Amino acid sequence: MTIQLGDTAPDFTAETTEGRLSFYDYLGESWGILFSHPADFTPVCTTELGEFARRKEQFTERNAKLIGVSVDSVESHRGWSADIAETQGIGLNYPLVGDEERTVANLYGMIHPKAIETATVRTVFIIGPDKKVKLTLTYPANVGRNVEEIIRVLDALQIGAHYSVSTPVNWTDGDDVIISPAISDDDAMIKFPKGFTALKPYLRLTPQPNK
Ligand code: BEZ
Repeated sequence: MTIQLGDTAPDFTAETTEGRLSFYDYLGESWGILFSHPADFTPVCTTELGEFARRKEQFTERNAKLIGVSVDSVESHRGWSADIAETQGIGLNYPLVGDEERTVANLYGMIHPKAIETATVRTVFIIGPDKKVKLTLTYPANVGRNVEEIIRVLDALQIGAHYSVSTPVNWTDGDDVIISPAISDDDAMIKFPKGFTALKPYLRLTPQPNK
């Protein structure tokens, strides 16, 4: 199954390192970061899961909840968490789904057989409070993700959800944003009281509205 932007994120119930949970119940009204990794006790995954744990507070501040998935068992995840704590300085502090039956992996298309036949690749799904998929990322097993980038796109998605703006190339939190071309100059002056600079009629920059 291919999940596309705007699709409703499928719900599931699964065993995790924090007990059996329903995905939708776990998310509640929060944003969700659902990410898969290929296998327990592997080097890249160990660094990634430690980094997600270290940055958990930054996700919480953004009303976002983390949940990981792999096709190993919960028992295996629990054992591996000790290694993550030992080598990364912090253990798992968010649920990691034990998906031995590949139920979640197949539901979200996390297995890419031409890359790895037997395990999930590195996918990321950012899901809005409306349970719609807002962003997807897919990395091969040998390339670790950049958690800073995931926080950056979460910030961009949240600003876009609250204001009629887009974010330009290389945008990071605090930079100017782009006013939607659908908004007239007159309306933009009301909506963006900090003012705007029009480089072209379709390219108008305004200071980040929520800063
Ligand atoms: C890793 O996490 O290092 C890894 C996992 C599966 C395949 C290749 C690398």
